[in-house]
Amino acid sequence: MSGHGTPIPMTSRKSGPLNGVAHVPGDKSISHRSLILGAMSVGETVVTGLLEGEDVLDTAKAMRAFGADVTRDDSGVWRVQGVGVGGFKEPSQVIDCGNSGTGVRLIMGTMATTNMTATFTGDASLCSRPMGRVTDPLALFGAQAFGRKGGRLPMTIVGAADPVAVRYTVPVPSAQVKSAVLLAALNAPGATVVIEKEATRDHTERMLAGFGATISAEETDEGRVITLMGRPELKAQTIVVPRDPSSAAFPVCAALIVEGSDVLVPNIGLNPTRAGLFTTLREMGADLTYENLREEGGEPVADLRARFSPDLKGIEVPPDRAASMIDEYPVLSVVAAFAQGQTVMKGVKELRVKESDRIDAMAKGLRAAGVTVEEGEDWWIVHGRGHGAVTGGVTVESRLDHRIAMSFIVMGMASEKPMRVDDASPIATSFPIFERLMADLGAQIVRNNV
Ligand code: S3P
Repeated sequence: MSGHGTPIPMTSRKSGPLNGVAHVPGDKSISHRSLILGAMSVGETVVTGLLEGEDVLDTAKAMRAFGADVTRDDSGVWRVQGVGVGGFKEPSQVIDCGNSGTGVRLIMGTMATTNMTATFTGDASLCSRPMGRVTDPLALFGAQAFGRKGGRLPMTIVGAADPVAVRYTVPVPSAQVKSAVLLAALNAPGATVVIEKEATRDHTERMLAGFGATISAEETDEGRVITLMGRPELKAQTIVVPRDPSSAAFPVCAALIVEGSDVLVPNIGLNPTRAGLFTTLREMGADLTYENLREEGGEPVADLRARFSPDLKGIEVPPDRAASMIDEYPVLSVVAAFAQGQTVMKGVKELRVKESDRIDAMAKGLRAAGVTVEEGEDWWIVHGRGHGAVTGGVTVESRLDHRIAMSFIVMGMASEKPMRVDDASPIATSFPIFERLMADLGAQIVRNNV
């Protein structure tokens, strides 16, 4: 798979205790939405704590291409001059969303109910991912999509000149699909109803309400029914982006498996639609505590304290928890390798259509490193070897997938022999300071070395 530039091979080796405080970057999901909703508002949205990873920077570029003024000052504060709902201008160039499924799907939704045409592309990973899941509901609004076979990028969307409100049941547990429909609904007159059978991350709903849209959600027998009134005037906001629980997962999991570790990861949002990993780790017997538990902006926030946990036990992860930890299964599978017994993960078909097929990528690397893994289309089982019994000593492919790269780098910190990742450059999409942050805690990580 072709990457973004020169590959960065990276090796991690057995590390001494990890100690200290790990300030992880801003939440990726909320960062994308801050820029997109800021662009659709009237006035200036001010964002602090934005994740300055490649995925989000590509969304910032895209918002500029659609006519919003997006700037960053020297202190890292971002400002978005919105153009209002329906105020996008037609971009004169192809929109390149890089590696980001969230970026491309949310932006497609946003422009699909405007009278314009835009063409989208991305890197080799993004161009292999399914877009039909988004273009199917966008067609109900009146938009047309012309892409490659199987609904892949590059793809041109011809927005609906006269969009109509829709009622749509999301067929897969996907916050990206739900959000694309809600963002499209903003410029469709009347009430759009989106139904999700399984609750997925709810940042779009919460943020739309914060920007002044009329939106409600109701739990019913059908699932979660979300109703959004079209054509609101969104009002610019001041946003402080919370730190990303999906990034916190890496120093937390590393601390649990590296002997003697004690790491504090402050200010992590524990929105129940995102915190499934931490619940799972605690069920496995992890020494993971929530310190200074408080509420910020209506959401639970805590400082996570993770300490070395030599007696982790494999568990069966409840399938209805999958959506709340969907990005964390790769690193969970690493922790599972250091636990006693089997960790069973079911109802996780979505892992096969992420930045890579994450079950396949992790299973291959884990097996090469001496861990037994069984798998089916929507499930996998990791047979834990227990602390001190994971061999390692192999080079694995990151497949343009930041979370695969970081997971194997974490694994190498506790396996007997080093783990080498063929290309760690994708880490910059979501966690550009990963290498330095982990090294500051005491991790042994080097580039281009075995
Ligand atoms: C995201 C939703 C998830 C997640 C992705 C971010 C979002 O994807 O994997 O990293 O910000 O909405 P799906 O909604 O497709 O599961």
